[in-house]
Amino acid sequence: MIEFHRLSKAYHEVKALDEVSFTVQPGTITGFLGPNGAGKSTAMRILAGLSRPTSGRATVLGRPYAELERPGYDVGTLLDAGAQHPGRSGREVLTLGAMMLGLPRSRADEVLRLVGLSPKEGRRPVGGYSLGMRQRLGIGHALLGRPRALILDEPANGLDPRGIHWMRGLLRDLAGSGCAVLLSSHLLHEVEQVADRIVMIGAGRVLAEGTLAELGRGRDLERTFLELTSHADRSLA
Ligand SMILES: Nc1ncnc2c1ncn2[C@@H]1O[C@H](COP(=O)(O)OP(=O)(O)OP(=O)(O)O)[C@@H](O)[C@H]1O
Ligand SMILES: [Mg+2]
Repeated sequence: MIEFHRLSKAYHEVKALDEVSFTVQPGTITGFLGPNGAGKSTAMRILAGLSRPTSGRATVLGRPYAELERPGYDVGTLLDAGAQHPGRSGREVLTLGAMMLGLPRSRADEVLRLVGLSPKEGRRPVGGYSLGMRQRLGIGHALLGRPRALILDEPANGLDPRGIHWMRGLLRDLAGSGCAVLLSSHLLHEVEQVADRIVMIGAGRVLAEGTLAELGRGRDLERTFLELTSHADRSLA
């Protein structure tokens, strides 16, 4: 379970988050949808213990991330897919990650297969990866342990339609085994294909949330998203 309770974050005069509250239940995938600057990354970074809230709280598996016993094993995070050392190969990145979690090195090869990177691609330096390959590696890194919660910031960024389809299958399987999945996007069609609940955020505030059926699909959902986010921008100006 992932929970945000009245989470607020201010950077000087900028209110990046304003009393954000919502829950991601185990076994479900929530899409965190909002335009650029809405506050998605800020909320996810606080959830992963990388930034402190001004007020309110964020918990994962019932506790603040920093208080978990095995955070790297129980919670998978993808917060900046470009953050890997460019000179290391994908396989080295995963092997180091596995070793840090006390897992056998063979886990790196399992994960490479899981995210659809070939052994040859796994041996190439990450600096030469395409955007989609970096995303796959980042998703793989988040899956090294046995996460019961996943925090993925823009995981579909750079994935082609086949890649998004693949990710959907992967996240569905994980949710099927009880994982709580939170993924962000600024693109409606990406989350719509993957998530079963959507939380729309604009200017640091939750604007709407519900299942796809509740919020409407396709054009209806797009209209809701555009209307709500443009209203949020106006009220901020
Ligand atoms: N370290 C920081 N210092 C100052 N302001 C920040 C900082 N990080 C984020 N902000 C501000 O907080 C707001 C929310 O930013 P955030 O990165 O959370 O948005 P986002 O929804 O992830 O956007 P995007 O879709 O572009 O990734 C923005 O106004 C941003 O400028
Ligand atoms: Mg962001």
